Amino acid sequence: MEQLKQAIRDRGKVLSSNVLKVDTFLNHQVDVNLMAAVGQEFAHLFKNEKITKVLTIESSGIAPSFMAASTLGTPLIFARKKKSLTMNDNVFVSKVYSFTKQETNEITVSKDFLLPGDSVLIIDDFLANGQAALGLVDIVKQAGAKVAGIGIVIEKSFQDGRSKLEEAGYRVESLARVHSLENGQVTFVDELIS
Ligand code: G4P
Ligand code: NA
Ligand code: NA
Repeated sequence: MEQLKQAIRDRGKVLSSNVLKVDTFLNHQVDVNLMAAVGQEFAHLFKNEKITKVLTIESSGIAPSFMAASTLGTPLIFARKKKSLTMNDNVFVSKVYSFTKQETNEITVSKDFLLPGDSVLIIDDFLANGQAALGLVDIVKQAGAKVAGIGIVIEKSFQDGRSKLEEAGYRVESLARVHSLENGQVTFVDELIS
């Protein structure tokens, strides 16, 4: 998605050879028009999958998922990282290990919101090692629902998240695929000269 790649070039910051900072439009301040376009692109890519729910994870997954769900005409569910005050034990739980943060967190979704027969589009902001996406997949499976596909805003293609998800049999659509962050430069997979 060219508009997204341009935002990454113009407004992203390479913090190291494996971390890209995009808090000007995605992770802190939100460019709502860009995120609306991102959501519409996901809706377009998965329009033939009879999606019934969009599932993401708080907090940064919510903005890019909003317009996807709106366009597909489905609810948007976000998995919680902390149990809410009003949440009872009627929840699906999955453990998610973050390589970046070197900690394990439990993510939860109420059993009221994912049902057998649902066809679920999973969306997240970043795909690195795939642990968050796999946790969401696990929750969809616990519900007896189907994973229709996985939409990612920014994929770090030099990490192994995509291959893990593809090996597990899932369709992965990433709107920007970062090949490398070496030397403070962002290069995208589709810019590689073969
Ligand atoms: P994984 O799920 O693919 O295995 O990723 P990882 O554990 O490495 O990611 C932990 C957190 O860091 C996630 O956000 C993820 O979106 C984010 N992340 C991973 N790589 C990058 C990167 O290069 N740049 C930025 N900006 N974020 C990255 P989170 O902790 O769930 O936070 P939130 O923003 O969703 O609240
Ligand atoms: Na994030
Ligand atoms: Na995230």
